[in-house]
Amino acid sequence: MSIQSIKEGDYEGIRGEIRKVLKQPQYDDGSAGPVFVRLAWHASGNFSLVEHNGGSNGAGMRFAPESTDPANAGLTHAIDFLMPIQAANPWISHSDLWTLAGITAIEAAGGPRVPWQPGRTDYTSAAAAEEHRGQVGDRLPDGAKGADHIREVFSRMGFTDQEIVALSGAHALGRCHPDRSGFDGPWVVNPTRFSNQYYKLLLTRKWVPRQWDGPFQYETTVAGTKLMMLPTDMALIEDEKFRPWVEKYAKDQDLFFKDFSLAFGKLLELGVDRDDTGFAKLVKKAAEEGKPLDKVKMAGWGCPFAGTGPRGRDAKL
Ligand code: HEM
Repeated sequence: MSIQSIKEGDYEGIRGEIRKVLKQPQYDDGSAGPVFVRLAWHASGNFSLVEHNGGSNGAGMRFAPESTDPANAGLTHAIDFLMPIQAANPWISHSDLWTLAGITAIEAAGGPRVPWQPGRTDYTSAAAAEEHRGQVGDRLPDGAKGADHIREVFSRMGFTDQEIVALSGAHALGRCHPDRSGFDGPWVVNPTRFSNQYYKLLLTRKWVPRQWDGPFQYETTVAGTKLMMLPTDMALIEDEKFRPWVEKYAKDQDLFFKDFSLAFGKLLELGVDRDDTGFAKLVKKAAEEGKPLDKVKMAGWGCPFAGTGPRGRDAKL
C-alpha cells in the first residue's frame, strides 16, 4: 500500500487514500474502519451547545487532557493509521482528515454516504489548544449508565431521542476492548459491515448479564459468536421514548441509513463555524463572545466554498 500526495483541495482523492488504510489484517477484525468512526465521533462529541465549545474543529485530541482521557483510550490506533496520509498531504487539517476518515469508513463498510464539508482548522500547539478550547472534559457518555444519562449527554450536543437512537446504530461496527473501555466483545456477528443488525439483535435476542470479573455488560451467543450490549445499549429498548425508534430501524434499514447519515453529518459539524472564506477559525471560546446558539449548522447544506478562496474553488467534495 503506497500513500500518495493528493492535489490540495481534492477531498475525493483523500477518501481514496483513506480506503487504502482501512484494510488492516493484523488489527482487530481486519479493519481500521470502526476505530475511525469512533475517532470522528469522539472528536466531535465533546461539543456543548450551552458553552459553545468542543467539537471536531481544532483536533484537540492530539493534546492532553483529551489525549490522556480514558474515554478516548485506543483512539491513538486510528490517529496512527491516518498519520501517513497526513504526512503525505500536510495541506489537510487533522480535524478534516479524522472526520473524513469516519464517514469514508462507514460508506466502505456498506453504509450510507454522510454529508461532509471541509474547512476545519487545527490547534497549532498544546498551548494554543489549552488557551482556546475551554473545559471540554468529561462530556462523553459512560456505557455503564442508563437512559437519563444518554439523554443528558446528547441533548448537550442538541440531539433528539430519534437522533440518539440512529447514532447508536454505529455499534454495528467494531468492538469493545478490555484494555480500553474495560468492556469486551462485538455487538454483531460481522462487525465490519454497516447495517441495522444492532437494532434487530437488541429486539430479538435474550440478553443476560455476563458472569465475569469485568464491568457489568450483557451477552448472548449467535452462531457460536459471543455478542455484547452495554447498559446504555439496553437502555434504548428499556426506555419508552427510545424503543419505538429501535423498532423502526430494525424493520427499515433504508430509514436507518437516511437518519444515521443526517445525524452523523450533524455531529461532525458541531462547533465548526466557518466564516466567508469557508474555514472554521479557532477563536477564543465563542461563548465569551455571546455567540448565538443558532450558529450551529445542521445537515443539508450546500458547498460552503462556492466562489470563495482558492482552496475552496478547487475543492472536490
Ligand atoms: C450512549 C452513547 C455511547 C456509548 C456509551 C458508547 C460506548 C462505547 C464503548 C464503551 C465502546 C468500546 C470502546 C473500546 O473498548 O474500544 C464503543 C465503541 C464504539 N463506538 Fe460507541 N458509544 C456510544 C455512542 C456511539 C456513537 C454515537 C457512535 C458513532 C456514531 C459510536 C461508535 C462506536 C464505534 C464504531 C465503536 C467501535 C470502536 C472500535 O472497534 O474500536 N458510539 N462505544
